[in-house]
Amino acid sequence: MEELLQQIESYKTEISAFEASTADAVENFRIKWLGTKGLVKAIMGEMKNVPNERKKEFGQILNEFKLFVETKFETLKAEGETQNAESNSTIDWSLPGDPVALGTRHPLSIVRNQIVSIFKRLGFAVAEGPEIEDDWHNFGAMNLPEDHPARDMQDTFYINQDPAWLLRTHTSSVQARVMETQKPPIRVICPGRVYRNETISARAHCFFHQVEGLYIDENVSFADLKQTLYFFVQEMFGKDTKVRFRPSYFPFTEPSAEMDISCLICGGDGCNVCKHTGWVEILGSGMVHPKVLENFGIDPNKYTGFAFGMGVERICQLKYRVNDLRLYSQNDVRFLKQFTGAL
Ligand code: DAH
Repeated sequence: MEELLQQIESYKTEISAFEASTADAVENFRIKWLGTKGLVKAIMGEMKNVPNERKKEFGQILNEFKLFVETKFETLKAEGETQNAESNSTIDWSLPGDPVALGTRHPLSIVRNQIVSIFKRLGFAVAEGPEIEDDWHNFGAMNLPEDHPARDMQDTFYINQDPAWLLRTHTSSVQARVMETQKPPIRVICPGRVYRNETISARAHCFFHQVEGLYIDENVSFADLKQTLYFFVQEMFGKDTKVRFRPSYFPFTEPSAEMDISCLICGGDGCNVCKHTGWVEILGSGMVHPKVLENFGIDPNKYTGFAFGMGVERICQLKYRVNDLRLYSQNDVRFLKQFTGAL
């Protein structure tokens, strides 16, 4: 009887290892094992030699074996059918696949990259700083007196109600970080995100993007500032764009000026965007305040510098006529895919 058991085991090993790559092979398997003269039938015939007291035990073993062979056969058949379905299907496997849909750059990234590349051509390097800042780099070092309205809780997001830490309200904080670690000549632009506690509307958002510029060397004059920004405007908006400077006030520059460009929408004739003035403001600028230089051990009698700060959303709005700031952060692909830029 033990030989019978061994026989079954060796059949099982053989069957488990069996694979069929054609329908014929599957049919041969059926004939060999399950056919009328097949091995299953033959081994079932051995029951007559099994002594009565073990018949029940062997009956079970042999039935299980038969089920095992039948299951294998069904599996082989099913595998063959799926292979068939693949080779007979109407799919043309030689066709190229569906193209992978490419994303597009965010309009703010496109514009920021354009701004950066224009200033890089003028020799400016890119510097970055943290978005979570301390009071000193964001305000103190930038000559913002304690009682300056920009320090008001209304505008600034403080971290955990601890006024020592805040979300930077402007990228001028990076000026401070650069002057802390570099000696003149300094020529950097600092692109980055800034935060202000504003109610979100078409015209205001609680975060936006700026590009800061800083140039410090001997004999840097207001004429250098004007020429640099004039070049920027012509590169960014085209040769016909006019600029004008208006006196302004920033604590970290003296004198300070805001720069307007002729309205791109109406060409200066007057429209809603320029509030019928023909001009739109695009940045703040000025000569670095001597106190700011002194804060970082830079001698204001030897060195002078200019600085400027512009809003990326604003430039993008003028270039692409985006009329609602919220569109930039809603992630609506219908909006986003309209902007293509190599940069
Ligand atoms: N920090 C100013 C703001 O956020 C922008 C600015 C104005 C930056 C004049 C400057 C500057 O560097 O000189 O509104």
